[in-house]
Amino acid sequence: MVEQKESMPLDVWSDAFNQNPYPSFQHFREHSPVHHMTMPDGQTAWMIFRYEEAVAALKEERFVKDPTTFLNEKEPTEQQPHALQTQLFTHHMLNSDPPEHRRLRHLVQSAFTPRMIANLRPRIEAITNDLLDNIEGQKTLDLIDAFAFPLPITVICEMLGVPLEDRDKFREWSNALVEAANNPKQIQQIQPLMLSFAQYIDQWITHRQHNPQDDLISRLIRAEERGEQLTKQEIRSLIFLLIIAGHETTVNLIGNGLLALLEHPEQLDKLKKDQTLIHSAIEEMLRYDGPVEFSTARWASEDMIFYGQAISKGELILIALDSANHDPEPFQKPEAFDITRQYNRHLAFGKGIHFCLGAPLARLEGEVALLALLARYPHLQLAAEPSTFEWRPGILIRGLKHLPIRLNE
Ligand code: HEM
Repeated sequence: MVEQKESMPLDVWSDAFNQNPYPSFQHFREHSPVHHMTMPDGQTAWMIFRYEEAVAALKEERFVKDPTTFLNEKEPTEQQPHALQTQLFTHHMLNSDPPEHRRLRHLVQSAFTPRMIANLRPRIEAITNDLLDNIEGQKTLDLIDAFAFPLPITVICEMLGVPLEDRDKFREWSNALVEAANNPKQIQQIQPLMLSFAQYIDQWITHRQHNPQDDLISRLIRAEERGEQLTKQEIRSLIFLLIIAGHETTVNLIGNGLLALLEHPEQLDKLKKDQTLIHSAIEEMLRYDGPVEFSTARWASEDMIFYGQAISKGELILIALDSANHDPEPFQKPEAFDITRQYNRHLAFGKGIHFCLGAPLARLEGEVALLALLARYPHLQLAAEPSTFEWRPGILIRGLKHLPIRLNE
């Protein structure tokens, strides 16, 4: 058995970790790449920090998303891992294992192919330009509030067919959820908010049942899998997943990515001089400070030895994607932000069967947003010291609460 060295405590819920998790990540990659720890609710978990182990864990079939299958439990109880997810939104692909996972993913997959997403480009550009028009004349502003948040939420609302005027409600609900994610104690506390979210989505399902349109919700309602309609709970869970995944992540690709560019002016200059670098620049932003810090939860379905550690059936597994993406093994000079990086097989979108469905959409939104912003405001600057910036609490999402920018037209 590999011995664990505990010389540096890892309090992943601390402010210090939130501000900058990378020194802790380096420590654990070097000393305890598969690390046993106790969660705030007393449950034990394994955190995985190195690239090779992270890839293996993401592909490991014995690390499952739906623990009820091996617990032989129909309904979760407080003690079981399934209590982490409220029943309101358990029935989506990111909580499912094959064959259920395949069926649920298949139902929405066609809307997210690179070709379908490329068709959205003109609309994404139009939304981006409207947002940039709205900020014209302002000297300083919070780029998250004014730009990085509204862009992806507008796109996903339009795809789903839910009204845009409700986007601030989504923000409140989904912020609460992602900040509590991977923290069993907090998940229990936000149940009332989740109930409101579920009621809201149900209302829209009912509305679309009576007034079908050419949008994703209407398509889901019509969808049939092997002759069977999806259950309302499955439709609700899928919509819920798409709203959360559709904007909680891309907002931070734009925010973290712009911060990295502004902190590395020589890289920003390169991009301004050669816009064709945008593709590799986006990949580097995803690797350097990716929006999904730790994967979502997986559970060991049996006792096993994983990279020298004895993992017990039912234990929680969390993969530190942002740590794996700074592993010097596959990435040369991982602490350098290099928008021309060639080998960049980062794990920002995960790996294996749960690889991000929205990756083509996120990449396109990131490219359009950053190029348009830099074209309109080539001299934009940070309006405060980065050390004063606050990062969102929680370990699922890595993103800034605010990004103060001076536009300098
Ligand atoms: C930069 C933006 C994004 C990042 C970094 C990101 C990252 C991820 C990651 C890491 C996973 C896998 C999680 C795990 O295995 O535990 C995932 C899954 C997923 N993402 Fe994204 N995502 C982004 C944007 C989006 C967008 C825009 C959408 C859709 C509108 C989306 C929809 C999904 C869905 C549906 C899954 C579940 C796939 C499955 O279980 O088969 N994501 N994403």
